[in-house]
Amino acid sequence: MELLELMKYRRSIRKYQDRQISREDMETIIEAGIYAPNAGGGQRSIIVGVRNASLTEKIGRLNVARFDRSRLSGSYVSADQPSIIDDPAIKSGFYGAPAVCVVFSMRNFLYSIPDAFCCAENMVLMAAELGISSCIIARGEETFAGEIGEALLKEWKLPENYFARCFVTLGYCDGEYPQPKPRKAGRSKIIE
Ligand SMILES: Cc1cc2nc3c(=O)[nH]c(=O)nc-3n(C[C@H](O)[C@H](O)[C@H](O)COP(=O)(O)O)c2cc1C
Repeated sequence: MELLELMKYRRSIRKYQDRQISREDMETIIEAGIYAPNAGGGQRSIIVGVRNASLTEKIGRLNVARFDRSRLSGSYVSADQPSIIDDPAIKSGFYGAPAVCVVFSMRNFLYSIPDAFCCAENMVLMAAELGISSCIIARGEETFAGEIGEALLKEWKLPENYFARCFVTLGYCDGEYPQPKPRKAGRSKIIE
């Protein structure tokens, strides 16, 4: 697909089929993340791909466990693909996706968060190009804050000074793929 067309086509998907993505596709998506722009050319972010549906579900539940609803602004995210903001009954922040990539970045680095989300953006676009659905998910740090999360980080041998910053869920859309979302007017200007 032509790039701008792909950007308009890509949507955040929150309903997934049971079907797992291939290891090869996950490798390509991670490679896209690794090639993201990065502050100071430091290439600090680390991406861990979890291609295991039950482990993805386990981490997705941790992602919601510490979700603080008291700080929500009250906006509605999506009618056709409800988010955990829209539906408090959703138990996994990964919406049943069979795979997820976790983006880690350095704890005390000024641009650690933008670095991670640049990786995530590259990854969701690569996924869309491969016909794989995705959603960027926040709350990385909170997700791994408890005993279970900390044990996983140890098992994955992440450097001590790294935090999970965000996630990219991966899988195949269950049901109809949503239409491009209309854009609000007046959000850009060109000054000459
Ligand atoms: C920084 C960031 C954090 C996000 N966090 C979440 C999240 O935690 N849960 C979720 O369901 N969607 C999350 N999203 C996806 C947005 O809700 C989604 O991009 C937005 O509603 C626009 O819809 P679209 O991606 O389908 O165009 C996040 C997106 C961004 C850019």
